[in-house]
Amino acid sequence: MTDNILQQQIDYYRARANEYDEWFYRIGRYDRGEVNNQRWFEEIAVVKSAVQQIVGVNDILELASGTGIWTRELLNIGKKITAIDASKEVIAINRSKLNSPIVEYQQLDLFTWQPDTEYDLVFFAFWLSHVPPTLVDSFLAKVYQSVCIGGQVFIIDSRFEPTSTAKDHTLENDRNIYITRKLNDKQEYQIVKIFYHPDELQEKLNQVGFDADVKITDKYFIYAHGKKI
Ligand SMILES: C[S@@+](CC[C@H](N)C(=O)[O-])C[C@H]1O[C@@H](n2cnc3c(N)ncnc32)[C@H](O)[C@@H]1O
Repeated sequence: MTDNILQQQIDYYRARANEYDEWFYRIGRYDRGEVNNQRWFEEIAVVKSAVQQIVGVNDILELASGTGIWTRELLNIGKKITAIDASKEVIAINRSKLNSPIVEYQQLDLFTWQPDTEYDLVFFAFWLSHVPPTLVDSFLAKVYQSVCIGGQVFIIDSRFEPTSTAKDHTLENDRNIYITRKLNDKQEYQIVKIFYHPDELQEKLNQVGFDADVKITDKYFIYAHGKKI
């Protein structure tokens, strides 16, 4: 079951590559009206400001880097970025948007990824929620292994909030593991989506060895900043 879903996740994001940014910029099916949209962008600004406060970083590893929404922010923080994603389609978009000599892309599956380098910062946005609960501890252990002593981890993800997703998606229960996602052409995929509560994420990060601080915005986002001491 899980293998099939993890493959569907890769297929979904490959097929969604050209429409992915509509979610972030609240366009089309993701336009939730002026009030919600404004709240979304205000909360994005809070998270971006927290990212912009990261200091003391040269080498960055970005996991599930997607179309470059956060890679662009990381360009202002470090001197070299290694950006990993399973989808060659999203990597192509990221590369053409950023056109940066300091970003190196690697197309690989994070569930078979074996870290072999340590970085000053490991960053991932809207990825942890797609890691099945049975694999999350081993995934975070690999993240820990990828951070140098004194280095940092920064995680951003979704809170359970029905207006964060498309109008034709249903979010009923914050404890479901699998959800159905649709593309603009109505094609459907099953993917994993886990909504962490701050104390749960804090405990997971502490367990693996990080000294971490987990925060939430009013409605939409959860974010964590940790240090390997
Ligand atoms: C929700 S998007 C997040 C993208 C980006 N971090 C952002 O915040 O805009 C999830 C990303 O995970 C990638 N992905 C899905 N399954 C993957 C896997 N098994 N290994 C690596 N990347 C994967 C997708 O291609 C997609 O770019």
